[in-house]
Amino acid sequence: WERFRCNVDCRTDPRNCISEKLFFEMADRLAEDGWRELGYKYLSIDDCWSAKKRDAAGRLVPDPERFPSGIKALADYVHAKGLKLGIYGDLGTFTCGGYPGTTLDHVKQDAQTFAEWGVDLLKLDGCYSSGEEQAKGYPAMARALNATGRPIVYSCSWPAYQGGLPPKVNYTLLAEICNMWRNYDDIQDSWNSVLSIVDWFFTNQDVLQPAAGPGHWNDPDMLIIGNFGLSYEQSRSQMALWTVMAAPLLMSTDLRTISPSAKEILQNRLMIHINQDPLGIQGRRIVKEKSNIEVFLRPLSQAASALVFFSRRTDMPFRYTTSLTKLGFSAGAVYEVQDVYSGKIISGLKTEDNFSVIINPSGVVMWYLRPTLLPVQPLHARQQGLGEGFHPVL
Ligand code: GLA
Repeated sequence: WERFRCNVDCRTDPRNCISEKLFFEMADRLAEDGWRELGYKYLSIDDCWSAKKRDAAGRLVPDPERFPSGIKALADYVHAKGLKLGIYGDLGTFTCGGYPGTTLDHVKQDAQTFAEWGVDLLKLDGCYSSGEEQAKGYPAMARALNATGRPIVYSCSWPAYQGGLPPKVNYTLLAEICNMWRNYDDIQDSWNSVLSIVDWFFTNQDVLQPAAGPGHWNDPDMLIIGNFGLSYEQSRSQMALWTVMAAPLLMSTDLRTISPSAKEILQNRLMIHINQDPLGIQGRRIVKEKSNIEVFLRPLSQAASALVFFSRRTDMPFRYTTSLTKLGFSAGAVYEVQDVYSGKIISGLKTEDNFSVIINPSGVVMWYLRPTLLPVQPLHARQQGLGEGFHPVL
């Protein structure tokens, strides 16, 4: 959505308009350029794919000019490439872009249609519906999707329409209904937009962080890396911060023309490994310095963790000195540290050792830490529950 929006003018802009051609081409890129193997498997259609009217039987139909082969054919194509297909709907009278919505009386029918087409993910938006309708409709769609018997990832925009916070949003209930959910504003192609999202998610981390876990994730919206609004440093920051948030990594960019440097950020193997950590614990901001440096920590399986040192400064690279003790790690452990972007390894870092990182303006330094020696006392609480020994990765 963020990159291609509701461009339906295929006459003047055939290459970028929302059409099956765009999705066929992106499927080829996902399959051929190394994305699929890294886990970028879902190719998701957003708004403006459908015709302006349902058919005579009341079914949603794709726009016949822009999707002449139909969604089923697109799903077949995508599946043959080892990918999955996502589609967009809206609980309400219209989608946000003004296309037919799924009113309560159409929930079952639309779930059935999507399943018949072979859809693997549904993003259900919430434009043009009331709070009451949403409270009925989102759980109803969950039941309807389950009743189709087809596994379909269910992405809900429900909390975003309710302000994203309790008491209006019940995250315990949401986690039972939806696999992921948008809680906040749409991302735009700018660093300001990324910062406003980061601010909201970490200001509200006490509420949001515990809500996430395997099968039920907060969705801070799409990665805009590869587009026009972010510098190189800012792109690396978005990737690192979304990984700390355990966010679903949904790219919204043109994979046909993406630059090598943007591709390298999005295809960082260790980053993706951290993002996809099986414990699925969302990270938190643990330090906010007066110097405008912030530190984020995400606990990972096998007593590992990820640290992100983020600079909001606008002057020059900043040398930040701290220690793992100061960052709340228990004494007595020794770590092997890998810099996620440079790949450099620091061995034998003790909890009490002072160390420095140099963080560029609006950039990050990101560390992956694995204990080579565990403390006699258990690690700090956030890192417990880890039984087995750790194994080398990558
Ligand atoms: C809303 C959603 C966006 C996108 C558009 C489509 O604004 O939050 O992510 O799906 O609708 O119209």
